[in-house]
Amino acid sequence: MTENFSQFALSCRQRVDSALDHYLPEQSDPTQLLTAMRYSLFNGGKRVRPILAYAAALAINPKVDLAEIDPIACSLECLHSYSLVHDDLPAMDDDDLRRGKPTCHIAFNEATAILAGDGLQTLAFELLLDAKAPAELKLQLVRQLANASGAKGMVLGQAIDLAAVDKQLNLFELETMHRYKTGALIRASVAMGAIAAGASNEQLNTLDGYAAAIGLAFQVQDDILDVTADTATLGKQQGADIARNKPTYVSLLGLETAQTKATELHRQALAALDIFAEQASYLRQLADYIIQRAS
Ligand code: IPE
Ligand code: IPE
Ligand code: MG
Ligand code: MG
Ligand code: MG
Repeated sequence: MTENFSQFALSCRQRVDSALDHYLPEQSDPTQLLTAMRYSLFNGGKRVRPILAYAAALAINPKVDLAEIDPIACSLECLHSYSLVHDDLPAMDDDDLRRGKPTCHIAFNEATAILAGDGLQTLAFELLLDAKAPAELKLQLVRQLANASGAKGMVLGQAIDLAAVDKQLNLFELETMHRYKTGALIRASVAMGAIAAGASNEQLNTLDGYAAAIGLAFQVQDDILDVTADTATLGKQQGADIARNKPTYVSLLGLETAQTKATELHRQALAALDIFAEQASYLRQLADYIIQRAS
C-alpha cells in the first residue's frame, strides 16, 4: 500500500465513522437496541465498501464533493454490519468473535442481535432517502442497494451458503454463491459511488467489470484467510469454515489454486480499469489491498 493510499483509506474511515456517529448518536437507550446497533457498527471494521464508494466517485469526478458520498458510504456500512450481525447468529454461522470482540448476540442476546440487524438494515435505506440529493438519484441508489442486498443479492447468497453446509458444490455453484453473498454488495458500493458522481452508463458498465472481479476476489481472500490467518489478526475465529464444513474456495480447490484464482481476479479487475487514467488509482490500489490484506 502506498502512503498516499493509506492516507486516503484512513480519511475515508474517518469520514464514515464521524458521519455514522452523527446519524446514530449515543443516547439513553433502555432497550439496548441502539447500543447494540452502535456496538456492531463501531468495532473496527475495515470499511472496505465505503472506501470503494468514495474511490469510485473520485474515478468518475476527481472534484466530487465527498460530503455527497457520505450518506452512501454510511448506508453501505450499515447494510454490511447488519449482514455480519445476522451471519454470526447461532442459526447461521454461530460465531462468537467478530472484529476482535464478542459478536452482537454474545455481547447482548440473540433477540437484541436480530433486532439490531433489522434496525441497521432499515437505517441503511433511511440514510439514502434522507440524503440531500435529487429524488431521481435517490431512487437509483435505493434500487441499487435493494437489489444487491435482498433476495436477489446478498440474502440469496447467504441462503445458498447455508443450504450448502456439508455438501460438495462444484466450482460454478461456489462462484455463484460467492458472487451473491459478497460480490453483490461490493458491486453496489462501486456503482452507487459512481452514480452519485454522475457516471454515464458506459462508465458504469466498465466499473462493474472491475467490481465483479474484486467482489469475487474479496470472498476468495476471505476463504483463504480463514485457513492462513490467526484469530487475533482476523478478529474472527480462524478455521470457522472448516469447523462448520462450509464449502469454500480453499476446501474445493486447495489453498494454492485459491490463491491463483485471487491473483487472476485481481488481474481482471485492473484490466477493466484500463480506460481510466490516473483518477482510478485509488480503485487500483483497493484491488491490490483486497487480495493482499491480512485480515
Ligand atoms: C466480512 O467482511 C464478511 C464478508 C463479506 C467476507 P469484511 O472483511 O469487510 O469485514 P469487516 O467489515 O472489515 O469486519
Ligand atoms: C459472510 O460470509 C458474507 C455476508 C453476507 C455477511 P462469511 O460467513 O464467510 O463471513 P465471515 O467469514 O463470517 O466474516
Ligand atoms: Mg457466513
Ligand atoms: Mg460467517
Ligand atoms: Mg468467511
